[in-house]
Amino acid sequence: MDTATTSKAEIASPIQDVDDELQQLLQTLPEEQGWVSGSSLYLYQGFWYAPHILKHAISCQRHFQASDSDVIVATSPKCGTTWLKALTFSTLYRNQFTRDESPLLTFNPHRLAPSLEYGVDLNNPCPGRVYKPRLFGTHIPYASLPASIKDSDCKIVYMCRNPMDMFISFWHFRDMLRDESKELLSLDEAFDKFCRGIYFSGPFFEHVLGYWKASRENPNKILFLKYEDLKEDISCQLKHLAMFLGVPFTEDEEKGGVVEEIANICSFEKLKELEVNKNGSQNGIPYKVFFRKGKVWDWSNYLTPSMVERLEKLIQEKLDKSGLTFKLSSKSSKP
Ligand code: A3P
Repeated sequence: MDTATTSKAEIASPIQDVDDELQQLLQTLPEEQGWVSGSSLYLYQGFWYAPHILKHAISCQRHFQASDSDVIVATSPKCGTTWLKALTFSTLYRNQFTRDESPLLTFNPHRLAPSLEYGVDLNNPCPGRVYKPRLFGTHIPYASLPASIKDSDCKIVYMCRNPMDMFISFWHFRDMLRDESKELLSLDEAFDKFCRGIYFSGPFFEHVLGYWKASRENPNKILFLKYEDLKEDISCQLKHLAMFLGVPFTEDEEKGGVVEEIANICSFEKLKELEVNKNGSQNGIPYKVFFRKGKVWDWSNYLTPSMVERLEKLIQEKLDKSGLTFKLSSKSSKP
């Protein structure tokens, strides 16, 4: 899985656990302290990784062979990975089970769309059965993706979220996962690191822009979605997703309410209340940490005016002329 394992690895994976090659590599990479005391992050190909994640990411770069039919859900952490995995899974395989038998009712979305860089068993990635086409997740930045993903006809669905909410979500996530004996950076300190790009999978803007540019060059291969747009009109975005994946909803499906059914089963309220997501866990990470508030613009409850000003400036500077904008509040549609 992804961010969950990431954080755990950052917390619990001492450097001596990783193999010799990685240890040698780490010695050559820039290092920074993570957001939780005792954790380290390493800069590899322009992005920050915890050691265990880096090990799997490199292995994935070297060995993963994409098929033309594969679907990859790509995100920065805390941008709605869990939601997008649930939606993509439910859309792709909707004819393989009835609504009452949806695997989402008994498995967390991270089990159904496992993340590539975590040593996935490619022959048996999902519990119980093998779904076709294959569906994977990843936080690997576009430039560092395995060549076979970029060169094959497999499809990538990328979802981003406005950086203010993403930051707040990530700070809480790290807090929920930390051992009691470890300390989390204050909001101020973490914010400074975030603005400097130092967190697992950061820098934020480079991650987003990598996929944004690639999606503009190749819109049939990469679909670029925004969390805020899904929150605003899930049915419209779901239809768009299904069309992109080559499995558009039929007229009968639309009339029969299939789109709404998928939106409903994947909704925050529904997923959060499922037994598996309330009490289940994977690799020691409770699934409940993936379901906090599920709201847009929660940042306004945490960020001070000077923090907002700093991030707004950064957004303008980084996204300048890119054509990419974020809706930062209900009033604005521009950075
Ligand atoms: P908040 O912390 O703002 O609540 P990721 O899945 O990439 O780890 O992102 C987690 C964020 O997505 C959390 O945001 C979480 O609450 C939210 N989320 C999880 N499931 C969701 C869903 N079905 N619909 C909307 N948001 C969801």
